[in-house]
Amino acid sequence: MDDSLAPKAVRPLLGGRFGDPYLYELETQSTQLLLLDSGLPDGAVAVAEHQTAGRGRLGRRWKEAAGTSILCSLLLRPLAERNHPEISLVAALATSDAVDEAAGMETEIKWPNDVLLEGRKVAGVLAEMRGDAVVVGIGLNVNQSEEQLEPGARIPPGSLRTATGRKHDRAHLLARLLERLESRYDKWAARGLSLLFADLHGRDFLRGQEVTVDGESGTAVGIHPTGGLEVDFRGERHLVESGEVSFG
Ligand code: BTN
Repeated sequence: MDDSLAPKAVRPLLGGRFGDPYLYELETQSTQLLLLDSGLPDGAVAVAEHQTAGRGRLGRRWKEAAGTSILCSLLLRPLAERNHPEISLVAALATSDAVDEAAGMETEIKWPNDVLLEGRKVAGVLAEMRGDAVVVGIGLNVNQSEEQLEPGARIPPGSLRTATGRKHDRAHLLARLLERLESRYDKWAARGLSLLFADLHGRDFLRGQEVTVDGESGTAVGIHPTGGLEVDFRGERHLVESGEVSFG
């Protein structure tokens, strides 16, 4: 398999707005940095085979073995009337769609940004805002073997390969991911989360689980229609808008 995400492999597979322009690097610090403050138009995509300073949520690092994953950032310029932080969920849902289709299995979404396959994290989303722009970065573990996955995270990491027992064509998967992102994003741009909520609810990993938020224990009611996580703390329901939720 000629497994590259170079423009000549990916561009012919793209049929929509997302991926125009398509920036590609063999190695870069972070694909986020290629788009933040770039002045590029809505739909611009940056992809790399390897990142030397990959960024995760809450200041964490995102590490991968070169050439094994999809490391992709997308520049969006949503209308001011939309609630921009919801974009993390929109991107997680689109990533979940693309992984379900490739793996022939059902992923779950751990609010607000993780995609889990068989209880292991296969993808993470990082949305960074700059003025009217949102750069949404997706790290998707595709062809890593068990040994190539970074140990030590609270949720065990997995890849499509570890779940399905075979390697996957990254260029086709990336093209499908961009298609799903465009479709989910356009619905969100038109109507907010309302058209996406049923699918988010159906894939909500934390729903009904015992969780800890800022040191306080409760039961996750689930993803709320406004995009937060509703948690029941001793009979009182609270909406968690951001931050870290641990479970189990
Ligand atoms: C997380 O789970 O904490 C989010 C991880 C996001 C990683 C992706 S990889 C492509 C893009 N570039 C980065 O530096 N980070 C995001």
